[in-house]
Amino acid sequence: MISRRAALGGLLAGGASLATVGVLTNRYTQRWIFGAPAFATEAKSLTIPKLMTGEVRSGVRTFDLDMQKGVSRFFDGIETPTLGINGAYLGPTLKMRSGESVQMNVTNNIGEASTLHWHGLHLPARADGGPHQVIAEGDTWSPKFSVKQRASMFWYHSHMVPRTGPQVYQGLAGMIYVDDEETSRLDLPSDYGVDDIPLVLQDRAFNRDGSFYYGTSMPNVMMGMRGNVLLVNGMVQPYFTASTNKIRLRLLNGSNARFYTIGFDDGRTFQQIGSDGGLLERPFETTQITLAPAERAQIIVDVSDGQPVRLRTFATPNSGMMGGGGMMGQMMGDDLTFEVLDIRPDAQRAKSARVPDRLITLARPAPSQAVRTRRFIMQMGGMMMMGGGSFTINGKSMDMNRIDETVRVNTTEIWQIENTSMMAHPLHIHDVQFRILDRNGVAPPPGETGLKDTVVVAPNERVRLLLSFSDYTDPDRPYMYHCHILEHEDAGMMGQFVVKS
Ligand code: C2O
Ligand code: CU
Ligand code: CU
Repeated sequence: MISRRAALGGLLAGGASLATVGVLTNRYTQRWIFGAPAFATEAKSLTIPKLMTGEVRSGVRTFDLDMQKGVSRFFDGIETPTLGINGAYLGPTLKMRSGESVQMNVTNNIGEASTLHWHGLHLPARADGGPHQVIAEGDTWSPKFSVKQRASMFWYHSHMVPRTGPQVYQGLAGMIYVDDEETSRLDLPSDYGVDDIPLVLQDRAFNRDGSFYYGTSMPNVMMGMRGNVLLVNGMVQPYFTASTNKIRLRLLNGSNARFYTIGFDDGRTFQQIGSDGGLLERPFETTQITLAPAERAQIIVDVSDGQPVRLRTFATPNSGMMGGGGMMGQMMGDDLTFEVLDIRPDAQRAKSARVPDRLITLARPAPSQAVRTRRFIMQMGGMMMMGGGSFTINGKSMDMNRIDETVRVNTTEIWQIENTSMMAHPLHIHDVQFRILDRNGVAPPPGETGLKDTVVVAPNERVRLLLSFSDYTDPDRPYMYHCHILEHEDAGMMGQFVVKS
């Protein structure tokens, strides 16, 4: 067996672009993750998703999106059937500005019904792209909305109950960049693809014929579908040549289920400047950051020392009371780690401005404004291993015909999320960007002080969120809240709320 380490060692030493990157089977593949037989690929330069600004038609920025089938080559000589938007795998980065009117024309040609959801955007429920906005095969869906967001990176993906897991896994996802006045004034790296780089992390498993392996057995559902190969913008272990001293990385955990703790192989510090829904008030220095599925972070890394450095992941237990090192953690492959991006600083690099100490201003969360507190209990029940598991919120599995919660527009509420299961669940709430008040009564760490739309709730944890509902009402069409482990979502860990006038 070769070692991928040896291959990369050669690559770093000689800078040879011909070094191959092998993907090996490992012990997890014998269990719940199917194994790829040592597929290999040459180290390639990172693909940056195409930046799409759309077309302004009578004052409305219009994006024509085609959900389609394709074939991708993640490994040399190996073809993988995939799904994409305006391409074979994933979709373009949609760029829009706060205050603009936007129209999407989404055509579905994937061979089955689907939806496209704008994750993190504050929109009317009818434009949300959730499970109620189904696009039949061959149809076009054209929602229109205005962009009411702080500048950040959002994303879009299929939300087709109960097929979200397999559809996203096949490739139905892409990024959204929103700009605004306040952020454009800041001197931050913002040259797309040059010093402002989106990175979507997705683990995948492969069958021997090169197709994706997507398991539907109970362990795959319980643990969420995980793989032993990491794709970064749809590539295996890419490299990036840095032409500036500072690089802004916009990280999205676009995986179905796996959590990642991300940092650099030399332990260098970096600055986190943003979370899901916007910039933080102030940057802060750290060496590692953990992202659950659907969470985003913006970081700035300094490569002015000219040394190659690798972004990688570290083991991230997500197995609760049995412990990361226990049976459960092993089954889940919690201790697998991945190389994300090999950063090679160019000999000639442009200088970058120093990151401002103060980024934006956010209102201080005022829990006293809340008109009420709602409790949500996330549970996994039944005989999981025997195939009879249940995935619920407040004891209920998702029912498209049941409205679980009704909130009033122009009010603020506290949502208290509790987790009585043995795994951490990333809870995502549509329509809003919320603030985290506390975790078991303790104020959140700096990376969680900004705008969030997805929050990890650990076993036995009680997380309080402050949410304000504004602008849009619809008594009939609900928004979703759900676990963003897509297999849990598809299995019912989701509820619906409406916003009423
Ligand atoms: Cu990322 Cu309900 O979605
Ligand atoms: Cu969403
Ligand atoms: Cu979950």
